[in-house]
Amino acid sequence: MAMRVLWLLFWLQSWYINKDIKNYIWNLTVLPLRRPYNIYNFKHQTDAPTGEIVLPLDALIPCVENATKLCVPGVTPICTTFNEIMCVETLSASTFSESYNTTCIKHTIPCLDNDPLCRNKTEDELTTEGDKTLLKLDLPCFANITINSNVAKFDIASFNGTVPVGSVGSFTYHYHYCVVTLGVPGAENDICVAGPPPESAKS
Ligand SMILES: *[C@@H]1O[C@H](CO)[C@@H](O)[C@H](O)[C@H]1NC(C)=O
Ligand SMILES: *[C@@H]1O[C@H](CO)[C@@H](O)[C@H](O)[C@H]1NC(C)=O
Ligand SMILES: *[C@@H]1O[C@H](CO)[C@@H](O)[C@H](O)[C@H]1NC(C)=O
Ligand SMILES: *[C@@H]1O[C@H](CO)[C@@H](O)[C@H](O)[C@H]1NC(C)=O
Ligand SMILES: *[C@@H]1O[C@H](CO)[C@@H](O)[C@H](O)[C@H]1NC(C)=O
Ligand SMILES: *[C@@H]1O[C@H](CO)[C@@H](O)[C@H](O)[C@H]1NC(C)=O
Repeated sequence: MAMRVLWLLFWLQSWYINKDIKNYIWNLTVLPLRRPYNIYNFKHQTDAPTGEIVLPLDALIPCVENATKLCVPGVTPICTTFNEIMCVETLSASTFSESYNTTCIKHTIPCLDNDPLCRNKTEDELTTEGDKTLLKLDLPCFANITINSNVAKFDIASFNGTVPVGSVGSFTYHYHYCVVTLGVPGAENDICVAGPPPESAKS
């Protein structure tokens, strides 16, 4: 049950960000700082990088837990050394969606008991898996990203910042992903949420 509640919270947070056009600022708290992030997706692309983004694998770092909340559950969060957060899926998993006139990830979210998100949906919008009901969602790709790496069979969903020993070759592979959401740290100053810095940190 606790797990389900967590999922709902994560989902609602992402939904909020994706839905409310006026609120594309997200405050990410990573103690001791709270930092404003500008959030971009298909519906909000202003100033966002367009076209193909190319990154070397060593630009990726493990995401802090709070950063992963930007992403709809089941979509892979990745974080960069520039403090950007991206929610990605492999590009090969995307298909053209007429309603968005672009490539989309066909995604599903498990419905909770009496989940308001799943109420009043048509049969077309819902699906089942075993005894679970799932809500179908099209997540449009607003950008593509290519990660260049000499790791064979690179799996972004299980990448933790350390490449498996013995998997590095001399050939450079190009791994393509669809970016559903991008978070870029805002220009404003970081806001300190913890107490004053320790004596040793003062000048
Ligand atoms: C983010 O933090 C700023 C400054 O504290 C605040 O004004 C704003 O309302 C916060 N935004 C959200 C979405 O929490
Ligand atoms: C995550 O964010 C919440 C508030 O949004 C904060 O209370 C919590 O301490 C943060 N966790 C970390 C590890 O920074
Ligand atoms: C779909 O997008 C293409 C360009 O990507 C554009 O030429 C076309 O007019 C769009 N179609 C509709 C129905 O918006
Ligand atoms: C579902 O439909 C009923 C009747 O049409 C309505 O009263 C209810 O508010 C709707 N619920 C949601 C979550 O939209
Ligand atoms: C991403 O790549 C796919 C497949 O090459 C292409 O159809 C799509 O238009 C690209 N999307 C963007 C936003 O460039
Ligand atoms: C990170 O992943 C590598 C390769 O998959 C694994 O060997 C290593 O134990 C993992 N490290 C942590 C801290 O999970």
